[in-house]
Amino acid sequence: MTSGLLPSSGAQPPIDVDSLARMASAMFSALPGEQLRTAGLQAPINMAPAGSPLSSASGLGPGVPGTPIPQGLVPGQNLIPASPTSHASLAHRAPALLPHATAGNGLPDKLVTELPAYEPRFGSGALGVPEAAGTGAPLPATAGTPSPFYFVSNSFGHPSAAALPVNTPVADYFTDTTPPTRLASAAPPSAPTVAPAPAGVISSEPKYYFVDSVVLPSGYVTPAKAAPHASAPLPGSDAHPPFDVNAIRRDFPILQERVNGRQIVWFDNAATTQKPQAVIDRLSYFYAHQNSNIHRAAHELAARATDAYEGAREKVRAFLHAPDVNEVIFVRGTTEAINLVAKSWGGQHVGEGDEIIVSHLEHHANIVPWQQLAAAKGARLRVIPVDDSGQVLLDEYAKLLNDRTKIVAVTQVSNALGTVVPVKTIVEMAHRAGAVALVDGAQSVSHMRVDVQDIGADFFVFSGHKLFGPTGIGVLWGKRERLEDMPPWQGGGNMIADVTFEKTLYQPIPNKFEAGTGNIADAVGLGAAIDYVQRIGIENIGRYEHDLLAYATHHLKPIPGVRLVGTAADKASVLSFVLDGYSTEEVGKALNEEGIAVRTGHHCAQPILRRMGLEATVRPSLAFYNTCEEVDRLIAVVKRLALARQRST
Ligand code: ALA
Repeated sequence: MTSGLLPSSGAQPPIDVDSLARMASAMFSALPGEQLRTAGLQAPINMAPAGSPLSSASGLGPGVPGTPIPQGLVPGQNLIPASPTSHASLAHRAPALLPHATAGNGLPDKLVTELPAYEPRFGSGALGVPEAAGTGAPLPATAGTPSPFYFVSNSFGHPSAAALPVNTPVADYFTDTTPPTRLASAAPPSAPTVAPAPAGVISSEPKYYFVDSVVLPSGYVTPAKAAPHASAPLPGSDAHPPFDVNAIRRDFPILQERVNGRQIVWFDNAATTQKPQAVIDRLSYFYAHQNSNIHRAAHELAARATDAYEGAREKVRAFLHAPDVNEVIFVRGTTEAINLVAKSWGGQHVGEGDEIIVSHLEHHANIVPWQQLAAAKGARLRVIPVDDSGQVLLDEYAKLLNDRTKIVAVTQVSNALGTVVPVKTIVEMAHRAGAVALVDGAQSVSHMRVDVQDIGADFFVFSGHKLFGPTGIGVLWGKRERLEDMPPWQGGGNMIADVTFEKTLYQPIPNKFEAGTGNIADAVGLGAAIDYVQRIGIENIGRYEHDLLAYATHHLKPIPGVRLVGTAADKASVLSFVLDGYSTEEVGKALNEEGIAVRTGHHCAQPILRRMGLEATVRPSLAFYNTCEEVDRLIAVVKRLALARQRST
């Protein structure tokens, strides 16, 4: 082989270094710098010697049109990772936290058996993952120092997004580290305490709780009171640490996405929530260091996977304040959990002439399985009606209960209207009638503290993906005596104690209901999501979202042609509406054009929309990473549409 030539491969002619450099330079010069940065890469160093025509933009250097892409050169092969300051590589960012990656041969020199422990609260997370956690703590980054946050830099992302405006009155409120007076109270006042400013005007006094100084909409709700097991406040802080939405937003990489040229506004949280980097990294960590099937294999990785999976089960137990970790069953999601109860408990306990009660607010997932059960058994499905605001009518419910009622299944928060349902009362009434009760927490767990012992239901179900966790994982919690009494609903591996061709002995709960290989990694990811939410504090989340909903309601309601759908006094997160002169799809499309994601349609809850005289609504649904500025963007689009209609009529 001649010196200066690269080895050839197969039938390819050899390529000399100069040609390769020329061709690669041409290729990279054709790519915009932003695109390279987006890929976490930078253009290759110029391989030509100093003084060569190739070392500058002259001659045949970069940018020569028509320079052929070399055969066999895959874009990216010759790229060099950019500096740690602009690259999101975990190894670049926090090498000290990755001892397993430091061996000279690139392989782990010491297998990692445990994740680094999380700081108990408001600390930095495992793996060096930044978690804002409502700290309001100053950013350690100084000029010229890489930020500890993954996504704080505009140089990361697809492509870099302009930061939302800060230092607005709202941002002041959220970023000030002085605990506001009202935040010190666990139960905020149920009405404004400050003389209202003109509608829509945010006054500067008091500085923090902006809802005090605006005219509140009728849907003003009281955030959930802290349950006895609520997280302890920060040492030395007031009862509630400041909630820094800008810091929290940095934990959610997808919020930097651009859609139609605008930074995305994710207002489709009732459909699914976005994932913090801590969850994304936890999934990667599981697959990189712990992946194995659980329970059965007697080897190190099986032990790690089992520990991680069972650790997640314990996190769910604590999150729900359940008394017993074995009462937590991992399933695919809320739908599967309800189907499990309908098929297993219902198959055993519901017979001909029996009655099943649901509310008019239910998602199809809490209607169809009961309908199927009723059809199979000759039972009857009965429905708790709602008033025009979308709240259940307890008097009517009382009339439905009788000694044929076997189970009452109700949602805690309506996915279509946002109504917060008084489930504790509904459960108490069901029990007094001798019925069992199931609460669908799919839309509640991300907004309010759930204490299954306080609610008192027999079953509580939710989905991980609505709680900032992965899709495909969810939870059925049931009282031990109920679950032990129920037959398995699926058979297979993992759920058995002994199998012969004559008979099978089952495992005790929870394994009895977890046939086959479960969604191990996503259960672990759900555990990480729960950790994240716990560090911020669910009461902090509920309080912030409550104010955001009040703000959004206040600005949306008066727009001519807007009809809010769902105006109960107690609401969480959801702001369903229709706009005169436009189909819901048209409104959704106009919002999408501005980068704003909402769900339009029937929201898998056709009965309640029909009760409201509609087939579809536009449904913005909020989460704690949303901001008033994002609400303003939505309001601007709706106002523009409303104005266009007025002008055309
Ligand atoms: N249940 C989800 C929603 O409400 C899919 O959009």
